[in-house]
Amino acid sequence: MRLQGKTALITGAARGIGLEFARAYIAEGATVALADINAEAVEMAASSLGPNAVAVQMDVTKQASIDAGFAKVVAKFGKLDILINNAALFTAAPIVEISREDYDRVFSVNTAGTFFCLQAAAKQMIAQGTGGKIINMASQAGRRGESLVAVYCATKAAVISMTQSAGLNLIKHGINVNAIAPGVVDGEHWDVVDAHFAKYEGRQPGEKKKIVFESVPIGRGAVAADLTGMAIFLATPEADYIVAQTFGVDGGNWLA
Ligand SMILES: NC(=O)c1ccc[n+]([C@@H]2O[C@H](COP(=O)([O-])OP(=O)(O)OC[C@H]3O[C@@H](n4cnc5c(N)ncnc54)[C@H](O)[C@@H]3O)[C@@H](O)[C@H]2O)c1
Repeated sequence: MRLQGKTALITGAARGIGLEFARAYIAEGATVALADINAEAVEMAASSLGPNAVAVQMDVTKQASIDAGFAKVVAKFGKLDILINNAALFTAAPIVEISREDYDRVFSVNTAGTFFCLQAAAKQMIAQGTGGKIINMASQAGRRGESLVAVYCATKAAVISMTQSAGLNLIKHGINVNAIAPGVVDGEHWDVVDAHFAKYEGRQPGEKKKIVFESVPIGRGAVAADLTGMAIFLATPEADYIVAQTFGVDGGNWLA
């Protein structure tokens, strides 16, 4: 039980990687607030995990919603030890077809949402005086551009950058800020990715996913459970000396 007595808030936890992180944290003894914009889905997700999970309806693009969500979690748990900044949207289009509306929509969740949840957690952790762990979900997409994925890639590059700055700024308070950069992870997110490539590359549904998943050096795409080891480790005292880093957990995909 590596997270016994710890309290965590995970954004975008109604499904996918966030939900798997919540499951893994609870198995390690933590109490977890699952936060998501989708109220019904996050209630169902939390109730599936038992008494150490609570659901919080939160829209990370709205400051009032972030403030209310964090206040609710602190009122319920009495403290906050860990934040996983996981909520994100995907988009793809050729450069000349990207609309300002879509650019703003995706930046508002992936970048501003990540930053202002990080800020809310930092304020709480500094007030507690007990330090803490903040884990941002980046992506291999944040380490390089991709022809059709300019906006999503840029949001994740920003996540890597703010992990560096916030990591340097907050370590004096005993708050470790680090990030995880997955490669390709099976789930509903990839249904969205695949649909975009079907549209812009003229592919059959499922075709892009098959090609991409089969080309990962380890021989398969990830499932969310492949990422939980790093998410747990970064929240433990064993990671106390790790500051402002982004760790690839991608089966070798980005390097290849
Ligand atoms: N799946 C992959 O292949 C992959 C690869 C690299 C990085 N990532 C990153 O990992 C994280 C989790 O990915 P996933 O595959 O589980 O995604 P997902 O799309 O399955 O889940 C994202 C969750 O975020 C929630 N959300 C969306 N907008 C929100 C908002 N405004 N406020 C609060 N919640 C909101 C959604 O309701 C959803 O439950 C994301 O940051 C993603 O960019 C995923």
